[in-house]
Amino acid sequence: MQANEAQKGILPEQDPGQDSTARAIPRVSIQAFCEAPETATAMQQAGADRRLAKTHFNLQMGSIRNAIEHFADSPTPNLLIVESRDAPEQLLEAVSGLAEVCDSGTKVIIIGHVNDIGLYRNLIDSGVSEYVVAPIKPLQLIGLIADIYLDPDAPVLGRSIAFVGAKGGVGSSTVAHNVSWIISEQMKQDVVLADMDLPFGTAGLNFNQDPPQGISEAILSPEQVDEVMLERLLTECSDHLSLLAAPGTLDREADFDKDTFEDTLDLIRKTTPLLVIDVPHLWTSWSRKTLREADEVVITAAPDLANLRNARNLVDILKNSRQNDAPPILVINMAGVPKRPEITVKDFSEALGIKPSLVIPFDPQLFGTAANNGQMIEELSAQSKPAEGFRELTRMLTGGREMGGKSNSFIKPLISKLMGKKG
Ligand SMILES: Nc1ncnc2c1ncn2[C@@H]1O[C@H](COP(=O)(O)OP(=O)(O)OP(=O)(O)O)[C@@H](O)[C@H]1O
Ligand SMILES: [Mg+2]
Repeated sequence: MQANEAQKGILPEQDPGQDSTARAIPRVSIQAFCEAPETATAMQQAGADRRLAKTHFNLQMGSIRNAIEHFADSPTPNLLIVESRDAPEQLLEAVSGLAEVCDSGTKVIIIGHVNDIGLYRNLIDSGVSEYVVAPIKPLQLIGLIADIYLDPDAPVLGRSIAFVGAKGGVGSSTVAHNVSWIISEQMKQDVVLADMDLPFGTAGLNFNQDPPQGISEAILSPEQVDEVMLERLLTECSDHLSLLAAPGTLDREADFDKDTFEDTLDLIRKTTPLLVIDVPHLWTSWSRKTLREADEVVITAAPDLANLRNARNLVDILKNSRQNDAPPILVINMAGVPKRPEITVKDFSEALGIKPSLVIPFDPQLFGTAANNGQMIEELSAQSKPAEGFRELTRMLTGGREMGGKSNSFIKPLISKLMGKKG
């Protein structure tokens, strides 16, 4: 805290974009009591955020006194967030009443309406974890919760980027693989590429690898997957690129539970700065969860009507379930197939409300040769337009968004930290 702020007697400005919000909060129970509708809205948006997906989050309207009544004879959650419009004295009194009904171990955040450093100090002295002044923003709240539950010395979690096609066969995996290759080979950053398309995934083929069972072994016994086992399941494609390969066999159906991949993907993010997830064109509980919880989503679509409808539905559902995130990134692939009527890029992006970050021409010679050789476009023809496009998309994905879309500012410091560490 700076001296002049203390002299003025007001709390320091809080930065809503702290990079602590880039990580998921563990499985804690959180109960919030709000007095102002605006606080309730912000709280609701925070509670619905992907970073709080593991928590049990409850919100109700009410004052500190209602909270005291509520918990008089029921156990308190791990974290209690209570809003109060009280003047300092009443607030301190109410907080000591609250302390009496709180179980030991329960943390308390107070959202107040009085900007007063003395009050802040008194509350902190009385055991309150944090006091903030309304109005409060969703990401600010998530940052406060992260400050309580995330260890600042724990290793920074790697970023995850999920790639999905608006229709089957539109080239989503091709985009994911080429981006992974550029990050690893040209930017020399460690990447793990996880192929979630267990029966039909092509990452092994596209990188000319004959990998072990990779991802299927990991999800078969997730409780056994630790760093040592993960190391064994990953196929090293090159110095910086490891593959969690799909078996590409039909001996198991892909009807997994929602949380099947969670532990494995979390573990990868603890050990690698960047996780690229190749999500198949499916709508299941696990594919939906993966898209919802990724740091960034890239939708690849071909310029026709079915792709447009599907892309629109995907964008809508992702915007809705990721309200504190930038919208997904759009790649239009296979543009300009000879004699095929197409929706123009302009019409496609207007209908979708998102400008494509990359438009890749249809080039069966180039892409077909790359696929058959198990090579990336960059290896085959670094001067080609698609290669240039993949480089640009990769720069955008790793260096913050520059090619359109909104900049996700609170992620940026994390990326530079990760890149700095590895570079
Ligand atoms: N711009 C392009 N021009 C020509 N062929 C392409 C282009 N992009 C991808 N392809 C080819 O299209 C085929 C399908 O690509 P890919 O497997 O990446 O699609 P997908 O969206 O991942 O499909 P799936 O729905 O099976 O996951 C591949 O053979 C690939 O080489
Ligand atoms: Mg695919």
